[in-house]
Amino acid sequence: MGTNEPSQVLIFDTTLRDGEQAPGAAFDIEEKVEVARILDDMKVDIIEAGFPISSKGDFKSVQSVSKVVENATVCALTRARRGDIDAAVEALAGAKRKRIHTFISTSALHMKHKLNMTPDAVLEAIKDSVSYARQFCDDVEWSCEDGTRSDPEFLWRCFETAIKAGASTVNIADTVGYILPAEFTALIEGLYAHVPGMEDVRFSVHCHDDLGLATANSLAAISAGARQVECSINGLGERAGNASLEEVVMTLHTRQNVLPFSTNLDTTLLTTASKVVSDISHFPVPPNKAIVGSNAFAHESGIHQHGVINHPNTYEIMTPEVVGATGSRLVMGRKSGRHAFKMKLEELSCHLELDYFEKAFMDFKDFADTKKKISDDEILNIANKYQQA
Ligand code: KIV
Ligand code: ZN
Repeated sequence: MGTNEPSQVLIFDTTLRDGEQAPGAAFDIEEKVEVARILDDMKVDIIEAGFPISSKGDFKSVQSVSKVVENATVCALTRARRGDIDAAVEALAGAKRKRIHTFISTSALHMKHKLNMTPDAVLEAIKDSVSYARQFCDDVEWSCEDGTRSDPEFLWRCFETAIKAGASTVNIADTVGYILPAEFTALIEGLYAHVPGMEDVRFSVHCHDDLGLATANSLAAISAGARQVECSINGLGERAGNASLEEVVMTLHTRQNVLPFSTNLDTTLLTTASKVVSDISHFPVPPNKAIVGSNAFAHESGIHQHGVINHPNTYEIMTPEVVGATGSRLVMGRKSGRHAFKMKLEELSCHLELDYFEKAFMDFKDFADTKKKISDDEILNIANKYQQA
C-alpha cells in the first residue's frame, strides 16, 4: 500500500478547494488562512489549498496557506496541463511540505463530451502531466475524475500509466456520488488485482455525497485498501458535498472493532473546525448533522434522558468531549420525564418537596405540550409557583 504504517489512513482535507466550490461558499484569503491553521492544528495530513491556475485569488490563497502551515503537506490542484502545473509549483514555493495534485477525466462520457479527447490521448496526458509534475516535486498525486463511471479496464491502464510516470498517490474520484459501497469495493479489488505497482503507492478515494453515500463509500474503500481519504469539514463541497471529514474520522475512531485503522487527527478540534467553516461559508450546520450538529449529544425524550443520566453510553456512542463539544444536553420538552425535570431543577438550584415536585412536573408537561422549546426561565416560573406555596 505504499505506507509506512499499514493501518494508518491519511486525512486529505479539501475544504479550501472542493469545499469552496460549493455554490454560495467563497472564502477570502484571510479566511482560508484561518481554516488552514485550524486544519494544521488538528493534524490533518494534507491540506488542499486551492487550484492556482483557476484565478489570481486562488493562486494567492495557495501562496498564503503555504506560508503559514507548519506540519501538514500543502497541496495544489492542476488539470493535466503543464501551465497548471507551473502555476501550482510557483504558488506552493513557500510550503514546508508540498504536493501537486493533477487530475483528468477517465469516463467515456467525460472524455467525449468534456475533454473531447480519445482514450489514448488521455493516457498520454496522464503520462505527461505526472512526469512533468515529478520534475518539481516528489509528492505527486494523480486523480481520475469520474473514475467510478469509467470502464474498469481503461481505468486499470490509467492507474498503471500514472504509477509508471511517478505518482506517489493515486486517487479515484466518485465525482458525481454515484457508486454504491459494494460496487466500490469490487472496483478497488479490480485495481489491486490488475494494476502493476498498486501495492507500492498510496491509494486514495474522493467521494461526493449526491446519494448520501460519501462517508459509507469512503469507509468501504478503506476496508478495500485505501489509505488516504479526501474529505471536507461539514462535508462542504460541490453540489451535495464531499465526504464529511468528521464522519469518516469518528467512524474510524468509534468502530475500531471492525475498522482497525488510525488517523493522526486531534478529534477534540472537530467542533471548533466545524463552527469556523460554517461561519465563514455561511452554511449553517443542521442541528441533526452527525458528530457536529447541535443535537448530536442532545436528548429530549424521557426514556433516553433517564438512560443518559444513569449511564451516557446508553444513548451516546462517543463522548461529547472527544469531538470538543461542551457536553451532553438534556433538552426539556413535551417528551421529557421526571428524571430530567428533577435534574434541571437541581441545575437551576431549585428544590421542591415531593408533592410540589409532582404538581410542578404536571404543570411542566401541560405547558410543554403547547411549546416547541422551553427555556430555563419558563421552567423556573413553573417551579417558583410551588416554592412559594
Ligand atoms: O470530484 C472530483 O472529481 C474532484 C477531482 C478534482 C479529484 O474533485
Ligand atoms: Zn470533488
